[in-house]
Amino acid sequence: MRLVSGIKPTGGLTLGNYIGAIKQFVQLQDELKDAEMFIFIADLHAITTPIEKQTLKKNIKEIAALYIACGLDPERVTLFVQSELPEHNQLAYVMESTVYMGELERMTQFKDKRQKLEEGLRGSLFTYPALMAADILLYDADLVPVGEDQKQHLELTRDLAIRFNNLYGDTFVVPKGYQPKTGAKIKSLTEPTKKMDKSSDNQKSYILLLDDLAQIKNKIKSAVTDSDGHIAYDIENKPGISNLLTIDASLLSTTIEERVNFYKNVSYQDFKLSVAEHVIDALRPIQEKFNVLINDPKLDDILDQGRDKAKQIAYKKIQKVYKKIGFLR
Ligand code: TYM
Repeated sequence: MRLVSGIKPTGGLTLGNYIGAIKQFVQLQDELKDAEMFIFIADLHAITTPIEKQTLKKNIKEIAALYIACGLDPERVTLFVQSELPEHNQLAYVMESTVYMGELERMTQFKDKRQKLEEGLRGSLFTYPALMAADILLYDADLVPVGEDQKQHLELTRDLAIRFNNLYGDTFVVPKGYQPKTGAKIKSLTEPTKKMDKSSDNQKSYILLLDDLAQIKNKIKSAVTDSDGHIAYDIENKPGISNLLTIDASLLSTTIEERVNFYKNVSYQDFKLSVAEHVIDALRPIQEKFNVLINDPKLDDILDQGRDKAKQIAYKKIQKVYKKIGFLR
C-alpha cells in the first residue's frame, strides 16, 4: 500500500490544510504501519499564480518544518520537494498529452480562479491538474489523502490512469482518494459558506498554523455565526456554528454529535472560547516544535534523503512510461 499527497507552498498553512490534510497524513502514518508514504511540497504548483522568490523559498522551508512539527516522522515518511525531481515534469507532459482540453475546462478550481484573476492568467493554472495527476501516478499511489476541494482533480487522475492503461497497456495504479470523516472542508470564519482559504484577502477568515495564539483567539471570537443562540449542527441554516463544531470535533478526534451534546446549554460566547482553547491547545505544541526545527540544519538532510528515495521510484517509472509510449531507443 502506498500513499501520496502534497501541499502547495503559496502561503502559510491554514487550519483547513491541517484538518483536511496533514492531520490525516499523521493518522494514516500511525494506523497503516506497513504503508509507504510519500508526502511532498508541491512547489511547482506554486508558480501557477505569481509568487515572489523569497516568499516561495520561505514557504517551502516552512512546510517542511511544519510537516514534521505536526507529527510526520521522516523515518517512516518520505518527505521531499517536488521541483527537485524532474520526473514530475516529465510525467506531467505525458499527462497533458493524455487529458482533454474539455476535461481541464471543467475543473471548478480553474473556473473559480479564472473569474478572480482575469489578467495574466498563466497556462500552468490550466494544465495544473495534469501535473497533479503526474505527482500521484509517478509513485503508483493506492491512496491519496486530500480535502474535499481536491476530489475533482483526483477523479481526473483516475480517468487519466485508466485512459493511459487502455492505450498503452497496464502501467499505472488507479488511485483512490481518502477524505476525513470530519473536516474535509473547513470553512472561512467570516463567510462560513466558503472554504477556508489562505488566498483570501481577509486575514480574519482563516487561521494560520503559525498565527500568534492571542490572534487565533480573537479570530475565533469574531467568527460569523447566527442570531439563533442555539448550538446545533446544520450546515444550511447554521454554517458558522457548524464549522466551529467541525473544527472542535476534528481537533479533539471525536464526533460532531458528541460535541453538540457537550455544548447543549452553552452560550455562543463560551462556545467560541472553548473552541479557541482547543485550537490553541492543538497548535501550541506544533508551533514550539516548528520554532526549533526551522533553524535546524537537519531539515535539509531530511529533504535530501527524501528526494533520493523518491528519485529511485520516480526514475524507474518514467523509464517504463517512456518505453511504453515509444520513446527511448
Ligand atoms: P492545497 O495546497 O491547496 O491544499 C493542501 C491540502 O489541504 C486541503 N485543504 C483543505 N481541507 C479542508 N478544508 C479546507 N479549507 C482546506 N483547504 C485546503 C486540500 O484539499 C489539500 O489536500 N493541488 C493540491 C496539491 C497537490 C497534491 C498533489 C495533493 C499537488 N499535487 C498530489 C495530492 C496529491 C493543492 O493545491 O492543495
